[in-house]
Amino acid sequence: MAGEAKMRVVSMIREMQRLADALRSQGQRIGLVPTMGALHEGHLSLIRRACELSDVVVVSVFVNPTQFVAGEDFETYPRDLERDLRGIAAAGGEVVFTPPAEEMYPRGFSTYVEVERLTEGLCGTFRPGHFRGVTTVVTKLLCAVKPHVAVFGQKDAQQAAVIRRMTRDLNMDVEISVAPTVREPDGLAMSSRNMYLSPEEREDAGILFQSLESARRMIEGGERCADRIVASMKMLVSSRPRVQVEYVEAVDAQQLETMKILRGKVLIALAVRIGRARLIDNLMIEV
Ligand code: PAF
Repeated sequence: MAGEAKMRVVSMIREMQRLADALRSQGQRIGLVPTMGALHEGHLSLIRRACELSDVVVVSVFVNPTQFVAGEDFETYPRDLERDLRGIAAAGGEVVFTPPAEEMYPRGFSTYVEVERLTEGLCGTFRPGHFRGVTTVVTKLLCAVKPHVAVFGQKDAQQAAVIRRMTRDLNMDVEISVAPTVREPDGLAMSSRNMYLSPEEREDAGILFQSLESARRMIEGGERCADRIVASMKMLVSSRPRVQVEYVEAVDAQQLETMKILRGKVLIALAVRIGRARLIDNLMIEV
């Protein structure tokens, strides 16, 4: 399968599984890029990475209700399938799996997948139940698409760590690949939720990347005290009145446990609210 003209849109799980079986029996390596649509350059870079790692790339487009916490933006989450299809085709995706909600969660649905510990801190503290929704839907997408490799973005570092843990713990026969964050010229990480920002909020949002870069400079300058780095980042981010800090943390990149003295592979992560948008970003650094 190759080229825009041959792109296939599949909405039923059974049809997706049959297609996956057929591709596998032809010896084709399947790559999956799970998305909730509203695609931007960050998603397209994941599709391009998947193209390098597999023969046929399936992109799932599904706004997953179970990962939105009460009061979040499930109803208003941007949806534009026609635009997404054009982007997917241009980036090299050949199959789009876009199941309706009743197909993924039929009446009587009552099985969830939950990863402990890694989901408790960082975003897990502020979005209770969010990761249970993510791991459940990703498991279902893996069962439907049967990929050899699935590609996720580094911007959602905790999500990537949780999914990697889940696939290992449950012996899922799939490789997890994590691709770098794609940024706007001022460093803001690309996100579907950036479109919620007013021009003034958009300008303030650049402070997230600036704070991560200031942390990087502190570490490169020899600072190892996590509290000092976190305090300095919080001060910088809070200097923008429209930005409300949810958390800034330095954790070890594997277990996501809070660190006092930075050593080894460190994840510095933050989440803020700016107007209607909740934005996250992170820096992975070897100390
Ligand atoms: O990262 C996302 O967009 C979502 O959490 C995912 C992985 C597509 C699951 O709904």
